[in-house]
Amino acid sequence: MSKSSVAFVCRECGGESIRWSGQCPHCRAWNTLEEFRAPRGAGQEARRAAGGPARPVPITEVDVSAAPRLVLAWDELNRTLGGGVVPGSLLLLAGEPGVGKSTLLMHLAAQAALAGGRVLYTSGEESAQQVGMRARRLGVATPGLLMLAETDLDAVVGVIERETPALVIVDSIQTMHDPAVEATPGSVSQVRESAARLLRVAKASGVPVFLVGHVTKEGAIAGPRVLEHMVDTVLSLEGERGQEFRILRAVKNRFGSTEEIGIFSMGEDGMAEVRDPTTVLLGDHRAVPGTAVLPAMEGSRPLLVELQALAATTQYGLPRRAVNGLDLNRLHMIVAVLDKRAGVELKQADVYANVAGGLRIVEPAADLPLALAIASSLRDVPLPVETVVIGELGLAGDVRRVGRMERRLQEAARRGFTHAMVPRGSVTAPPPGMALIEVREVGEAVDLLLRGREAARPASQPAAN
Ligand code: TYD
Ligand code: MG
Repeated sequence: MSKSSVAFVCRECGGESIRWSGQCPHCRAWNTLEEFRAPRGAGQEARRAAGGPARPVPITEVDVSAAPRLVLAWDELNRTLGGGVVPGSLLLLAGEPGVGKSTLLMHLAAQAALAGGRVLYTSGEESAQQVGMRARRLGVATPGLLMLAETDLDAVVGVIERETPALVIVDSIQTMHDPAVEATPGSVSQVRESAARLLRVAKASGVPVFLVGHVTKEGAIAGPRVLEHMVDTVLSLEGERGQEFRILRAVKNRFGSTEEIGIFSMGEDGMAEVRDPTTVLLGDHRAVPGTAVLPAMEGSRPLLVELQALAATTQYGLPRRAVNGLDLNRLHMIVAVLDKRAGVELKQADVYANVAGGLRIVEPAADLPLALAIASSLRDVPLPVETVVIGELGLAGDVRRVGRMERRLQEAARRGFTHAMVPRGSVTAPPPGMALIEVREVGEAVDLLLRGREAARPASQPAAN
């Protein structure tokens, strides 16, 4: 083996290093570098597969007529994938153990079998009986769904080449073992080489291959990031185990946008797509102190979400600040701006913030509704229930414009909201039935929505001169 074919690869981030060291120079994780051994003769195989000397083609003569995608029954899946599954693509579904990766792919496999013929579900994690029982329980058992309990990659590739299914699922890549690679399953060498081999099979046969990749916090096995640059599409399945909703996000997609998400609900008999997320996410939104509704944008889709905050005087010396589904640094900033620019006293207050339904919202448009939810909680006064709030906050307390106001307001109006607090000058023509409350800065916003609603306090009075 030549010297250059041995390198060290980080289990966590996939970063490569020439020398071993205790700490990864890329992601700074400790004890994650692993020697990477390429399989014997991998270089020659790649050259053989290429078929003789390379020949460039004029770009005008490149065949751009795309092969039709495999369209699944669930639009939530199709949209996240960019319009269906591309033939010959290699996809990675990453997520924490127990989040529902096998369940989702079982649904996907059954839909692909109905749309395109036979589908091979390879499991190295569970026995054929266990997978079969799950398929029955989900009500998706169909003869077109072929089950293979196998961890030997030679055997898996043999079946793919013999059966040429319409789609293949490998659950999980961390259990697969290529006998040509002298490394244990789950190690960086094994995971990378097994995936590289499945990539060649997918490209050569035109069969799309889904890999399941477990994300582990401990990094005992090679994480999906080791594979990110190799696959065409990385999907991430997010959600809390105890909660109902699962979000499927395209983190990388050579065949579509990475902004789109799919929403699913996890129930006793499997998953279901959530076609109308607003209804579910907004649920029974009522006028309670500490909540505000934001018409958020998730990809091309407007989605009404409830932001929740709890602000209360701290019992400890140092106030606690925590978030769920929001950016903690952003919360710190909003708290500071509220305290300094809007006279909302938060120096001695614990502040917790949350997005209802387990969604993750990172867009700046959430700043103002979150600020108002915090002020509403601290003063124990609900915001008007028929009002949505949109706006980014600057450090000076200024309320800034955000994009796609029309789509956001249309969705809010469609859901029966009659008032929208928006950055001044950001909307020229509100939808019919929607009144605008334009604001320039955060103090004004707090006054407009909370002042006068405080039962114990008198409405705002002009200051005495
Ligand atoms: P699973 O798909 O096995 O997760 P992963 O492959 O990501 O490890 O599902 C995990 C959990 O989901 C499991 O603890 C039980 C629960 N579950 C349901 O609630 N309903 C169902 O129909 C199924 C199949 C699983
Ligand atoms: Mg699983």
